[in-house]
Amino acid sequence: KQALICLSFELVSSWVRQTADFRLSVSTLRINGILPSRGDVQVQAENLATQLKQDSVVEDISTDRGVISFKVNRKLLAQVSESALPHGRKSICQIRVFACCSSPNIAKKFHAGHLRSTIIGNFIANLKQTLGNNVIRMNYLGDWGMQFGLLGAGFGQFGSEEKLKQNPLQHLFEVYVRMNKEAEHNEDMKQAARDFFKQLEQHESQAVSLWQQFRQITVDEYQHIYKRLGVHFDIYSGESFHQDQAQEVVQQLQSQGLLKTSEKGTGVVDLSPAGDMNSVCTVLRSDGTTLYITRDIAAAIDRKEKYNFDEMIYVTDKSQVNHFNQLFQILLVMGHSWADRCQHVPFGLVQGMSTRTGEVVFLEDVLDEARARMLHNMSQAKTTKEMDNPEDTAEKVGISALLVQDFRGPLLSDYRFDWDRMLQAQGDTGVFLQYTHARLCRSVLKYCYATTFDPSLLLEQTSMTILQHLLRYDEVLYQSAQDLQPKHLVNFLLKLCHLTASAHRELLVKGSPPDVAQVEKKLHQHAILNN
Ligand code: ARG
Repeated sequence: KQALICLSFELVSSWVRQTADFRLSVSTLRINGILPSRGDVQVQAENLATQLKQDSVVEDISTDRGVISFKVNRKLLAQVSESALPHGRKSICQIRVFACCSSPNIAKKFHAGHLRSTIIGNFIANLKQTLGNNVIRMNYLGDWGMQFGLLGAGFGQFGSEEKLKQNPLQHLFEVYVRMNKEAEHNEDMKQAARDFFKQLEQHESQAVSLWQQFRQITVDEYQHIYKRLGVHFDIYSGESFHQDQAQEVVQQLQSQGLLKTSEKGTGVVDLSPAGDMNSVCTVLRSDGTTLYITRDIAAAIDRKEKYNFDEMIYVTDKSQVNHFNQLFQILLVMGHSWADRCQHVPFGLVQGMSTRTGEVVFLEDVLDEARARMLHNMSQAKTTKEMDNPEDTAEKVGISALLVQDFRGPLLSDYRFDWDRMLQAQGDTGVFLQYTHARLCRSVLKYCYATTFDPSLLLEQTSMTILQHLLRYDEVLYQSAQDLQPKHLVNFLLKLCHLTASAHRELLVKGSPPDVAQVEKKLHQHAILNN
């Protein structure tokens, strides 16, 4: 019994150490209550070994000087690791997931938070999809509110159709900033902005068509940037879609007796546990207009009706934790029990994101800067080979570097943006990841014609470690699916790259006998597929 307990322990620790084979030293066991003497250990080991049976997992049991060695079946290990490769898997229960991510605000300055909500949202959507779920990706634009009053009125004053065509995001932003400044001290400008927004709210055609134009060119521009990031959305929606429904929500709250009037004359929902208005959420301004949260309540109800999701995930920075708590609470008190299956994934702030020319204004600036810096690094590196399209390579590697820097730690932590560290060729970076992948493709995939794979030929510890690491893939996906954190997967891949680097040093495919060489190449292929 004691031997079995020790064996289980050895088995688990061999898994943790990634050594596959494991051993049991008899000298650590008490047999009939006493530790065996030195002369006895080999006899005891042989005794125990005869009572243990080989099976499909442990293919050989041998003893030597009091130590029982268990050799794990390589073929089986390789078979299992092959099945662990990402050929596509089906989850046992397929669900419909609604992911609300990216969601920038039109005409306002881009902030690092929008890069994060785009790439993290995309990670979560990809993950859920890989696990066999049906995923709907939505971009919920900040396309409504007083900023459109400023923009609409401002465009009449300082706008240029020409500039709008040439560089739409830049121009809209300039108009917005200028008008905002003017309105601070110019009462007429302020009034013009209010008037324009009022016209919009009343659906006056001229105002609406200008707004539509601004919205459409922004979406077009963003789509271009999303393409660079490999991100797409099934639906572009936004706050503007839910103005009327938001008024209906207010009426529903009223008829359910949930709408209270505060001392300031605003409409609020009481969320305090004691019902003493200790903690309230404002859903209606005193002038009768709705707010960000009111539109979110309406949008959630609308999505449930239209798409009947099983799960909805919102990705934003952590400053909105309270907003989403209140949103889910209000949905629940309104009787929407599905709000329990809505989740907010918050992330931390990024400090110090700036380009060589100064502060980052648009998402595109970040991507351009990553590409330019990468191109520069490539031209400096002695090992860089001639390539057909260095710009394209720099673009892809630069974006990988951005992603890996962002995904390595817990999402909730703030981090300091560091161009140099992020673009290092060595260390845990996206550059290292891409480099390893490229190296594997170049040196192995190109020359490997093996169709069969006999892993029992792989005796080196380095190979076993890679196989065992590959076997962890499912576990890693599961971990990421549990807490929606990319760090598990990213760190798994980085470790795979380090293991691959040791394999490159230690497993010399060239000098090995032909059959072994083929297997070693095949192992490299596994690493590539996983990457
Ligand atoms: N546009 C918002 C912002 O930039 C984010 C929207 C998040 N999604 C939502 N359904 N509230 O802060």
